[in-house]
Amino acid sequence: MKNQVQEIAADCDQLPERFICKDAEEYAGESCPTEIPVIDVSLLTSSHSELDRLKSAVTTWGCFQAINHGIESSFLDKVREISRLFFNLSAEEKKKYLREEHDIEGYGNDMVFPHCKTLDWTDRLHLTVLPQHQQRLHFWPQNLTNFKEVVDEYSSKIELINEVILKALARSLNLEENCFLDQYGTTAKMMARFNYYPPCPWSDNVWGLKPHSDGSAMTLLLQDKEVEGLQILKDGQWFRVPIVPDALTINVGDQIEIMSNGIFKSPIHRVLVNSKNQRITLAMFCMPQTEKDIGPVDELITDDTPRLYKNVTFSIEFYLENYQLGKRASEACKI
Ligand code: OGA
Ligand code: NI
Repeated sequence: MKNQVQEIAADCDQLPERFICKDAEEYAGESCPTEIPVIDVSLLTSSHSELDRLKSAVTTWGCFQAINHGIESSFLDKVREISRLFFNLSAEEKKKYLREEHDIEGYGNDMVFPHCKTLDWTDRLHLTVLPQHQQRLHFWPQNLTNFKEVVDEYSSKIELINEVILKALARSLNLEENCFLDQYGTTAKMMARFNYYPPCPWSDNVWGLKPHSDGSAMTLLLQDKEVEGLQILKDGQWFRVPIVPDALTINVGDQIEIMSNGIFKSPIHRVLVNSKNQRITLAMFCMPQTEKDIGPVDELITDDTPRLYKNVTFSIEFYLENYQLGKRASEACKI
């Protein structure tokens, strides 16, 4: 049986049952015209109004489109190119990097969990990129020129942007600017997930990615340059996330929701597939080192705003354990 969606998509005249989302209600929801805020990262240290706009974006949407973030357009193209080259490798070559059944790292398709039997129409390459000594290089494509150089350089650029955003978020709440970063411990962790969504002729009830929130602290997403698909849930409605040239789509993950005692929202989002075109994106999940406890920042716990979350060690296992039960990790931490 073929497992990788790319192979299934290349050679099938009927949609395999396991990809069909049967819960029409869950799938329903027209997407609305867009209002996802666009934030100029270069203004966050100098402009109060931009800082206020960031705060408003992240308290209401949990996400925004970041422009002027300092990564050159030509470098973003290089990142897109290595992603494309990886998925263009032969099926046999890609299988050298296949993940083990219960491991999230490596190349492969969706994990199967008892509570959700519908599989996502996507293949991914999932890699720990930071700290560098935790990279598991046998999952990194060996024969793609510059793959590692580009990913390493991109990761360090993303790390800097993540710091700028986290400091700005802290200042926007009148907190000491390192209060979120301090919870990162000595070594921040970053995972890269290259997502490949093949075209799907039966796009009407197939998920690219099922609705979910991210278990990261922050996620910085490089969207496909041409093909849309991402949608964000806000106030019970789905909003499409348009392509803003060279912007990074940034969203809060469950861990910042917890650290901010619920002020910043980790949004539910999903991906729809395109009937004609493939779509490739790269999500960078930034988070504290895994052994580190996280919890709401002390200053945010007051008589009026009591503590909403317990302290937890927010590991990938913890996220997946809850995901398996159909629960959001941030919900599982609620007091
Ligand atoms: C993710 C994600 C969105 C996309 O990888 O968690 O939400 O558009 N990706 O690929
Ligand atoms: Ni996501």
